[in-house]
Amino acid sequence: MSGPNTSYDPVEVSALDPQQIEADVEAALQAFAQAGDLDELKTARLAHAGEKSPLALANREIGALPPSAKAEAGKRVGAARGRVGKALKERQAQLEAERDERILREESIDVTVRARRRPSGARHPLSLLSERLQDIFVGMGWEIAEGPELEAEWFNFDALNLPPDHPARQMQDTFFVDPPQAGLVLRTHTSPVQVRSLLERGVPLYVAVPGKVFRTDELDATHTPVFHQVEGLAVDKGLTMAHLKGTLDHMAEALFGPGTVTRLRPSYFPFTEPSAEMDFRCFVCQGDSARSSGSADPCRTCGGTGWIEWGGCGMVNRNVLRAAGVEDPEYTGFAFGMGIERTLMLRHGVADMHDIVEGDIRFSAQFGLEA
Ligand code: DAH
Repeated sequence: MSGPNTSYDPVEVSALDPQQIEADVEAALQAFAQAGDLDELKTARLAHAGEKSPLALANREIGALPPSAKAEAGKRVGAARGRVGKALKERQAQLEAERDERILREESIDVTVRARRRPSGARHPLSLLSERLQDIFVGMGWEIAEGPELEAEWFNFDALNLPPDHPARQMQDTFFVDPPQAGLVLRTHTSPVQVRSLLERGVPLYVAVPGKVFRTDELDATHTPVFHQVEGLAVDKGLTMAHLKGTLDHMAEALFGPGTVTRLRPSYFPFTEPSAEMDFRCFVCQGDSARSSGSADPCRTCGGTGWIEWGGCGMVNRNVLRAAGVEDPEYTGFAFGMGIERTLMLRHGVADMHDIVEGDIRFSAQFGLEA
């Protein structure tokens, strides 16, 4: 074991030289100040405050000093390391704050920005209403029947008691289809499905027939050449107009709310006898508008009449039953038909047919909440 080196001169140990220590501190402070981010500061820390830094080496040299010199040198090195440590801590805090601020800025999310969403589609209100109508019939135990849109003239007219010279053939603004001898038309109403379903299904029969129909009308606020109807037909033993009225009242209530009644006005259709036009009581003013006649502000839905025209109906003409093969006189039937576009316009206050026809999703979407 070697004894202490008494000839040791601390001033000659360069690491402990006060000027050197000052220079080490200066170098450390400068390196910390120059470090632009936390990675650079880490490098500077290892170089100037790490275990192999000049000041750490100087600290280690103290142990080798003679006791008389230790306190002095220790104080100096300690103070130097203290300054370096403090400067490091401050710079560290500063750079961390800068980093945090940058992250907040760069990674911020503007929650008020409009989301880019793919708009979901909307079912057309005519489809929704048609299904609702069908549900009403299915709820009464009726069946749903369909027929072709390209229809034989015979089903569209003849079988419905409209012979070739009948004026109603012209009245119905028919689209005739080439070649003329094929006897085909775009069906002008859903009534031909009455005869088709009687022939296919026989009696007793309770069917509702929704579908597309065609007439040579110009598209305007209240007309369209392609529109929809729903037809009802019931044929059974002993059916009367009371059954017709009850069915229509039920339909009106289910569609327009409790208390909505219907009324029948005498009319003429070749396929029914007797025939009637059917109105329902205005579901907006409940007829009040008509009772307080002369009112300055008549109901906008019924125009102040208290009633709204809905469609045609009647007891099925015996000729139609015969054309459909129903010979037994015990069987009687009632039938009715109404426009679905018109019903939609009345029920939802749609003022212009164009909105229904054009297919703008913004129109359809408004009906989305209704099942
Ligand atoms: N088919 C007629 C039309 O389009 C409507 C109609 C009237 C249907 C009386 C019927 C009915 O079933 O009995 O104008």
